[in-house]
Amino acid sequence: MWQAAIPPRKEKVMRQIVNRSNGDYDVLAVQEVPDLAPKGNELIIDVKASGLNFADILARKGQYPDGPSKPCVMGYEVAGTVREVGGDIKGDWVGRDVVATTKFKGQAEQVAVQPKQVFEKPERLSFVEAAAIPVNYITAHILIEVMGSLQPYESILIHNVGGGVGIAALDIAQQIGATTYGTASQRKHDFLRDRGLDYAIDYRNNDWYEELMALTEGRGVELITDPLGGKEWKRSYKALRATGRLGMFGISSASEGSSGGISGMWNMLKTVLQMPIYHPLPLISKNRGVFGVNLGHLWHEPQKAQTWVEHLLQGVEDGWVNPHVDTTFTYDEVAKAHRYIEERRNIGKVILVP
Ligand SMILES: NC(=O)c1ccc[n+]([C@@H]2O[C@H](COP(=O)([O-])OP(=O)(O)OC[C@H]3O[C@@H](n4cnc5c(N)ncnc54)[C@H](OP(=O)(O)O)[C@@H]3O)[C@@H](O)[C@H]2O)c1
Repeated sequence: MWQAAIPPRKEKVMRQIVNRSNGDYDVLAVQEVPDLAPKGNELIIDVKASGLNFADILARKGQYPDGPSKPCVMGYEVAGTVREVGGDIKGDWVGRDVVATTKFKGQAEQVAVQPKQVFEKPERLSFVEAAAIPVNYITAHILIEVMGSLQPYESILIHNVGGGVGIAALDIAQQIGATTYGTASQRKHDFLRDRGLDYAIDYRNNDWYEELMALTEGRGVELITDPLGGKEWKRSYKALRATGRLGMFGISSASEGSSGGISGMWNMLKTVLQMPIYHPLPLISKNRGVFGVNLGHLWHEPQKAQTWVEHLLQGVEDGWVNPHVDTTFTYDEVAKAHRYIEERRNIGKVILVP
C-alpha cells in the first residue's frame, strides 16, 4: 500500500548574535543553533531582551582583553522567562519572569544560567527595562556606594553621565542626596537636567576641569567616576577635594575614532602610556584615594553580587532605580546598534530584542 513519506523531524533551533572576528560591523551576524538543554544545575531562559554594552563594541574591535575568543556570542545581561530547568534545580522556576547576569552568550534567544545569576524581574519594569539593570547599575553601585562611599553632604562628578552607567550613577547619587556634576555631549544636557543632574558640563567643546573648578570655586569634588582613562585620570585626580576618591573603570577614550586594527592598537598604547601612577605618600598628604572597578572580574563573589542586586531591585520597588532605555534594535539590526553607540547617539541604554 502507498504511504506518504514522513518528513524528517525538524530540529528546534534558536537564534543568536555571533561576532565572527575582530573588525567592522560586517563581522556581526545572526546564526541558528539547536535549542539549549539544561545541565543539572542550569536554568534555560527564553530571552526577551539583552543589554548591549560598550564592552561589546570594544570586543568587536579586538580591544577587549576580557572577551571570549572568536567566533563568540557576547552578552552580559538578559531579561526573559524560565522555560526549562535541570534536574538539580530546586524550586518552582519554570514560567517565572527573571533578570539575569550572563557570562557572555546573552545576546541569544535562549541562554543557560545558574541560579546564583538569576533574580525575579520587578513587575514595575518591562523586560526591556529590566535588561538595562545588571551591568550599568551594579557597576554604578560598586563605584558610588560600595567603594566610593558617597555621603549626602558630598559632591560627585560623573564622567559620561549620559551613558548607561552614567544615568545609573545619577540615580544612585541622587538617592544619596549628593550634589551632582556630570560631563556629556551638549545635546544630552536638557535630558540630564530633567533627570535631576545639578550641573552639566560640555566636555567635548570645553575643558571640563576648568569648568568644574569654576563651578566649585576651586574646591573640586569628593568622588569622581571615570571611564575615560589615559591622561583624563590625571586630571580627575587633580580635581579631587580633600578626602576625595577617584573610581576608574574604563578607557573609552582609547577607542575614540578607531575601528580597531593598527590604529586601535596605537590608540590603546597611547592611552596606557598616558595613565598616571599614584604614589602612596601624596595620597596620604593630600587625603585622597584611588580605586578601580571591573565587574567582569567579580564572578567569584556571587554572594556579594546577590546583595548588590537585591539592594538595586529594592531601589526599583522604592522608585529611585529607573533605567532609561534609549532604543531597542532587533538582532538583525545589531550592526546598526553598534554604530548607534559608537556615534554617541544613545542617552542611557541600548537593548537588543529577538
Ligand atoms: N569596569 C567595568 O566593570 C565597567 C562596566 C560597565 C561599563 N564600563 C565602561 O564604562 C564606560 C561607559 O559604559 P556605558 O555602558 O555607560 O556606555 P554607553 O552607554 O555606551 O555610554 C558611553 C558614553 O560615553 C561617551 N563616550 C566617551 N568616549 C566615547 C567613545 N569613544 N565612543 C562612544 N562614546 C563615548 C558618550 O557620551 P557623550 O556623547 O556624552 O560623550 C557615550 O554616550 C565604557 O568605557 C565601558 O567600557 C566598565
